Parts: sequence; structure tokens; C-alpha cells
Amino acid sequence: MDCHAERDWNKFGGPPKEGSLGAGGETFERKWGFPGEYYAGNITPYGVGDWTDGELFRAITSGVSKNGRALFPVMPYLYFGKIDREDVYSVIAYIRTLDPVEKENLESESDFPFDFIINTIPKKPEFITKPVNADKIACGEYLSIGCMECHTQAKKGRIIPELAYSGGRDYILPTGGVVRSSNITFDSETGIGIWSEDVFIQKFKQYADSNFVPLEIGPNEFNTIMPWAMYAGLTIEDLSAIYTYLKSVKIINNKVVKFTVE
Ligand code: HEC
Repeated sequence: MDCHAERDWNKFGGPPKEGSLGAGGETFERKWGFPGEYYAGNITPYGVGDWTDGELFRAITSGVSKNGRALFPVMPYLYFGKIDREDVYSVIAYIRTLDPVEKENLESESDFPFDFIINTIPKKPEFITKPVNADKIACGEYLSIGCMECHTQAKKGRIIPELAYSGGRDYILPTGGVVRSSNITFDSETGIGIWSEDVFIQKFKQYADSNFVPLEIGPNEFNTIMPWAMYAGLTIEDLSAIYTYLKSVKIINNKVVKFTVE
């Protein structure tokens, strides 16, 4: 939902604008380093109501659209092809229940030679069985698939796996300035190595408080694309599993300056 909605960047965390949930909106552009313009489409029934469950399933897990077009992997199908197929079924069932929003899709486009290369990226899924709670590291890894994409530097829009979770990926904010993802490896100087599990959990849970109202953000003020408010709904067990998993990943020393205004 953080990609397939119009986000209100004048509020902290860019919460989805009223009535835009699933209607598409975020564009991943050349100025962010992408080899083209990629538009997150309308996945409400207005946009995909005439897609079969199978067509949605293929797009989500293999990156091939209803019309046979390859999707750019900023749509995380390479990750979604490695989860439990039951979870994909649940996601499809859920998006069928979204309010239909009448909004037409823009066509994504790739620059040469990426307009050819993109066709080589879709991949047959390799589903796994969801790990059981007892295996905390495996559960945490399962829940962290969305974290890696933002928290890893990328080249031409594709992450550099050796730098996983060490942060420093740039995001130009519509209200001005550049926010960079944090180093969430356990390096004690530049990452979250000195964070206790409680501190980690509280960082997320502070946004779950019913009194939480996102602050107004003015031009060139710090804002973040980290979907804090959405992740605040994770259970303490889930956050604890993510913490335990992150503790097991390779430590990388990488100092990130969180926010700068040019
Ligand atoms: C859409 C991109 C995006 C996703 C997805 C994302 N993050 Fe972030 N995250 C960021 C950015 C950018 C920052 C830096 C700005 C901030 O602190 O809000 C950040 C900050 C953080 C911080 C704060 C670190 C510090 O030093 O203050 C933690 C912890 C964190 N993310 C963990 C996670 C975890 C765990 C997940 C997955 C469950 C995740 N993030 C998913 C973009 C993302």
C-alpha cells in the first residue's frame, strides 16, 4: 500500500491520502536512478477487476502483467516469488475487497537498452512454506523481505546484494531534500548494534498509539518514506523476530547521513 497509493508528503511518513488506497500513485523515476519511469498501478477493483486471480498471482510472483509486459522489479515480485503461496492468495483476496477508485493507469516505460533487458528479469516463483514461530531467525527473515529493498543501495534501481541492510539508498522527497535509508545491520558505530530489542520495538510501536497524529511537514523539512505507521501494526512477536534476524545478518560499517537539503 505504501507504493500503490498517493502519499501525502506534507505529513510525517507520507500517509496514504484519503480515498487513494490501492489506486496507484507513486512513480519511480529517472531522477531516483531508475532506467525509465515506472508507475505503481491501480490495484483496486477499478484497475484489476477484470484480471483473473491467476493473472494477479502471476504478476505478483513472477513479474508478468496481464498483457504479457514485464514489470520492473521495484515491484518486489522477485521477493514475493519466494514466499508461501498461501500468503499470496490472502493478498489477492484482500485487494479484491478494496474500494474501487476510478483512476486511470499511466504506462511505465524503460529507456534503451533496458526496454530489452527488462524482459529477462521475470522469473518462475520458488515458493516456500512459511516458517513456524519457533524458528525466530527464519520468521524474521520471512518478515523482512520488504526491508531489504529500501535499506540497500542500488545501481540502476536494482539492489546490490553484498550491501544488504547497510542503508544509504537515496530518496528525493517531493517537499525538498534527500532522505537516506538507515544502516540497520548491527554495526555498533554506524548501524543499530547498540539498540536493545525494546528500543527497536518501541521505535515502531510509538506510531501505533491511537494519539499518534502525523506532524505537518513544511518545504525542505525532514520527512521519511519509511512506512512507520504501517509497520506499527506488526505484533511484538513479529518485531522481535525481525530484530533477531537482523542481528544475524552480515555487519557492515556504513555511515549514513539521514537527511540533506541541497
Ligand atoms: C519504503 C522504504 C523503506 C522500507 C520498506 C523500510 N524502510 Fe526502514 N527506513 C527507510 C528510511 C528512508 C529510513 C531513514 C529515515 C527514518 O529514520 O525514518 C528508515 C529508517 C529505519 C530505522 C531507523 C534507524 C535509525 O537509526 O533511526 C529502522 C530501525 C528501520 N528503518 C527498520 C526497517 C525495517 C525492520 C523494515 C522492514 C520491516 C524497514 N525499515 C522497511 C526506508 C524504508
